[in-house]
Amino acid sequence: MNFHIVTLPGDGIGPDVTNEAVRVLKNIAEKFGHQFSFEQQLIGGIAIDETGSALPDETLRACLNADAVLLGAVGGPKWDDPRAKTRPEDGLLAIRKGLGLFANLRPVKPHPALAFASPLREEKIRGVDFVVVRELTGGLYFGKPKERRQENGHLSAVDTMEYHDYEIRRIVDLGFKLAQARKKKLASVDKANVLASSRLWREIATEMHADYPDVKLDHVLVDTAAMRLVTAPASFDVIVTENTFGDILTDEAAVLVGSMGLLPSASLGEGTRGLYEPIHGSAPDIAGKGIANPLGSILSAAMLLRHSLKLEDEANAIERAVDELLSEGCRSADIAREGERVLGTSEMTEQVVKRVISNQ
Ligand code: IPM
Ligand code: MG
Repeated sequence: MNFHIVTLPGDGIGPDVTNEAVRVLKNIAEKFGHQFSFEQQLIGGIAIDETGSALPDETLRACLNADAVLLGAVGGPKWDDPRAKTRPEDGLLAIRKGLGLFANLRPVKPHPALAFASPLREEKIRGVDFVVVRELTGGLYFGKPKERRQENGHLSAVDTMEYHDYEIRRIVDLGFKLAQARKKKLASVDKANVLASSRLWREIATEMHADYPDVKLDHVLVDTAAMRLVTAPASFDVIVTENTFGDILTDEAAVLVGSMGLLPSASLGEGTRGLYEPIHGSAPDIAGKGIANPLGSILSAAMLLRHSLKLEDEANAIERAVDELLSEGCRSADIAREGERVLGTSEMTEQVVKRVISNQ
């Protein structure tokens, strides 16, 4: 099969890890007999430096013509001036909106061999396996008005949390469908005791439950959800929530596995085209040093194969390789214990590639 993949390495360790994921994808193509063509484009701080825009038109156009997009990371101290006109993060928000990627999937499944790295006790981590479905193109991130004001000698600023029924419906529907294919438990997270948008969310989720009678639906207030993520993380199967709540809860969920360096994510819309990125940031302090953990990006490439290219066996081959190398004690700096041998970015990838090639 032929597929066209756009890569957006971005800033900091973005290029370090994206290169490694591409290397794995090339090996997958060779082993399974596919043709993948890769096209690199600009996003984030580097795009601002080179074109003045965090998401150049050419990048968006290329992504619209791709089967899938693999992104590294954006941002860094160089572009952090709060008064700057454009920020690297604007590129990320614009591409989510521009590609209509309203759903962000972040699976959280700690590897047993890394339970020690979790801030929670091992017995709390046992059995944790859930996925957060975060709404990605609505809520406070995009609602209007969104502005600063000056009135009566005072400054104020406003953000707007607005949700339309159709925005809620399509994301909650995805939550139900995912739950149906898993342990059939959906936690719809809101703040219905305070927010009007949450009350609409809850009303719609309740209504939609009629179409998914086999799924157990729980409405969980976001503060309770934050608490339960650390007290009983294994109780979750699928969590569906709005944009800002999802942003906060996914960082909390991410640290449960011990390192942000391990986690992939997928952003999906109506069609099969999606954007895949590790959930870690650009980590400018270690950029270019060859020590970043590439597994978050490599596992994002696996999600790309599964969700956009519909290549399930190929996705499994990568996930199995990562599983094995972690079981066998391969460690990058972020997940190594005192005295353990530490592998660099490229050596970690080598361990993935080796297993992808030799596994049946
Ligand atoms: C994320 C990030 C982004 C977000 C930032 C970089 C704009 O935190 O993907 O979770 O808030 O969505
Ligand atoms: Mg975030």
